[in-house]
Amino acid sequence: MSPIYLDYNATTPIDPQVAEAMLPYLHQHFGNPSSSHAYGQTTADAVDRARDQLAGMLGCDAEEVIFTSGGTESNNHAIKGVSGAYRQRGNHIITSSVEHPAVLEVCRWLETQGLRVTYLPVDSFGAVDPPQVEAALTPETVLVSIMHANNEVGTIQPLREIAAIAHHHGALMHTDAAQSVGKIPVNVDDLDVDLLSIAGHKLYAPKGIGALYIRKGVRLEKLMHGAGHEMGWRAGTENVLHTVGLGQACQMIHENLPAYGSHLARMRDRLEKGLSQHIPDLWINGDPENRLPNTCSVSFENLEANTLLSQLEGLAASAGAACHADRVEVSSVLAAMALPLHYAMGTLRFSVGRFTTQEEIDQAVVEIVRVVARQKQAQEVGD
Ligand SMILES: Cc1ncc(COP(=O)(O)O)c(C=O)c1O
Repeated sequence: MSPIYLDYNATTPIDPQVAEAMLPYLHQHFGNPSSSHAYGQTTADAVDRARDQLAGMLGCDAEEVIFTSGGTESNNHAIKGVSGAYRQRGNHIITSSVEHPAVLEVCRWLETQGLRVTYLPVDSFGAVDPPQVEAALTPETVLVSIMHANNEVGTIQPLREIAAIAHHHGALMHTDAAQSVGKIPVNVDDLDVDLLSIAGHKLYAPKGIGALYIRKGVRLEKLMHGAGHEMGWRAGTENVLHTVGLGQACQMIHENLPAYGSHLARMRDRLEKGLSQHIPDLWINGDPENRLPNTCSVSFENLEANTLLSQLEGLAASAGAACHADRVEVSSVLAAMALPLHYAMGTLRFSVGRFTTQEEIDQAVVEIVRVVARQKQAQEVGD
């Protein structure tokens, strides 16, 4: 039997309705959307429809959405694109220390190209403090890039407040929304952002497709040079099949978000309640209030995450730290939150999804409680 899947923040399966929408573009409609004949018109219409579906979900115009290969490309395009296009205005970027490598590594590379980057610290919940953004802003700052919600602990950042500060100082605001879309409301005007990255495989669309929202008037240097696809923003023949999938997935989110959100919260809360009842010293990571409804990052004191994972044979989840012979490698997010090492080393992330059932959660609780008790006992004997 397959393990119970509790790793939806890593990736999601393709929703059956998404797969169904894609099928005609796998079997039948193959035209190049740039071709003027009927074959091309059919796929061009499909890409247009998908763009409308994304725009509907985000609350923007269709011309403000471009399709990319995923969250990593969207982040690269937004950050490198702004730093290149606004180089004459300034050469400083502000980001946070809890971003995904798809932001952090872009910033590190830009530093090798002469840009200055400020990596803001976070509090023990993993949240950025808006006054610290204000303090870091200079007349040279062209971009503030702060993720909407964290992939490891689920903390939701005070984006609207941060965006207001950035705009007051003349900087643009980008957010990596790879983890928030489909779990909490994401509207570009409510968040007051100029650029927003989306990753298809986190929201029940296929892997290898994503999108970037670019507010009207924002300039970006290109990543991909070539023909004039995607309204001139990104060259390359469109990935029609996956674009149709992403469009359908976003349409479903637009129509069903409250139901999706409450299902996630019910499953996640049941898991946390079950674990807390049996493991009194359980440490729950992330902001207790402003947290993704599906994410449960928990730390088991003095236990080793990978040992626990290897014994949790019936579950698929992720570790927040790796123990080596001479040292413990804690994830950069937990390190930035200054989680004490004896907790950080035993951190596991369980992330529930649309298809998680109550039975799966109850089974998971039993298995986790059993494995944790066994590990604690083994440790006592070892002591
Ligand atoms: C917060 C965040 N940003 C970006 C990415 C990268 O997205 P993709 O896998 O589509 O390149 C991920 C995926 O792990 C993520 O969790």
